[in-house]
Amino acid sequence: MKSISMTQYLLEEQRAGRINADLRLLIEVVARACKRISIATAKGALGGVLGSAGTENVQGETQKKLDVLSNEILLEANAWGGHLAALASEEMDDPHPIPDRYPKGEYLLVFDPLDGSSNIDVNISVGTIFSVLRCPEDVKPDEKAFLQPGTQQVAAGYAIYGSSTVFVLTLGDGVYAFTLDREQGSFVLTGLRLRIPEETAEFAINMSNQRHWEAPMQRYIDELLAGKTGPRARDFNMRWVASMVADVHRILTRGGIFIYPRDQRDPDKPGKLRLMYEANPMSMIIEQAGGASTDGHRRIMEIQPQKLHQRVAVFLGSKNEVERATAFHDGTAA
Ligand code: AHG
Ligand code: MN
Ligand code: MN
Repeated sequence: MKSISMTQYLLEEQRAGRINADLRLLIEVVARACKRISIATAKGALGGVLGSAGTENVQGETQKKLDVLSNEILLEANAWGGHLAALASEEMDDPHPIPDRYPKGEYLLVFDPLDGSSNIDVNISVGTIFSVLRCPEDVKPDEKAFLQPGTQQVAAGYAIYGSSTVFVLTLGDGVYAFTLDREQGSFVLTGLRLRIPEETAEFAINMSNQRHWEAPMQRYIDELLAGKTGPRARDFNMRWVASMVADVHRILTRGGIFIYPRDQRDPDKPGKLRLMYEANPMSMIIEQAGGASTDGHRRIMEIQPQKLHQRVAVFLGSKNEVERATAFHDGTAA
């Protein structure tokens, strides 16, 4: 079979009138930046990219060298194309305007440059997550312009730097996967209109936090752990990579439910993951693949963000399982 490159796929989407030239360029530029991040990640100790950068980001997390480098790569790649009004990132306190010397475009790009950074030094899969929004017309591209619910995303995707590098993309009409051909240096279409099985017997959660969870969450997981002789009458398996990109990629491939619930440690912190550059793009991908995504109560993509770095509880993956887990929190579970 003749292989289709990402460039060809995007050009055909443009010809069919589903995306414009600027959005095509934007996706190509992000994919090219991900290729560079993939190369830097794969060099590991040889590239001098392991370890801490000795700085902290806005959320008070220690930045790894690769967090900082990936952020710079994405900023640099996206500055000059004329397709963006501004960018925002997990690793920057405030939105980053396009420098005055370059033309501006209609899109806003939000990203987690390196997801799963605690895994860099131990050679486990990490990734990049991104979300594309439109900048409202005649609006200054400051933080307020970014505060749009996930339903407004025009595109979302991630790159996983695993045993192979895969770029997963949705333009709002199905989910497509492109594997990096390292010899050719290009992304090749390897997954069309991906679908997540509606039923699953696999869950992903950091069990070490169990004692901090709220009661409905405790009950839901207890039922999964009870296995065949419990109320669910089947055994469940557990996986937790601690890179959201890797856990979501597994779920996209073979189903499952991913949960990072809110807990009782800090009432001001509704979960660990960030709404704008982790939960929303992943929710769009999961929904486009036939899955579901909630914060335990409502659809994540309908949440009106109040802050760029806002956190949210996340339940996503196989549709029926996400609905069951959500029902526990609504009090509608049998
Ligand atoms: P990041 O490296 O971008 O800060 O994100 C890490 C996130 C996510 O990738 C993962 O699912 C989760 O943190 C893991 O959290 P725990 O270490 O609490 O398990
Ligand atoms: Mn992350
Ligand atoms: Mn990150």
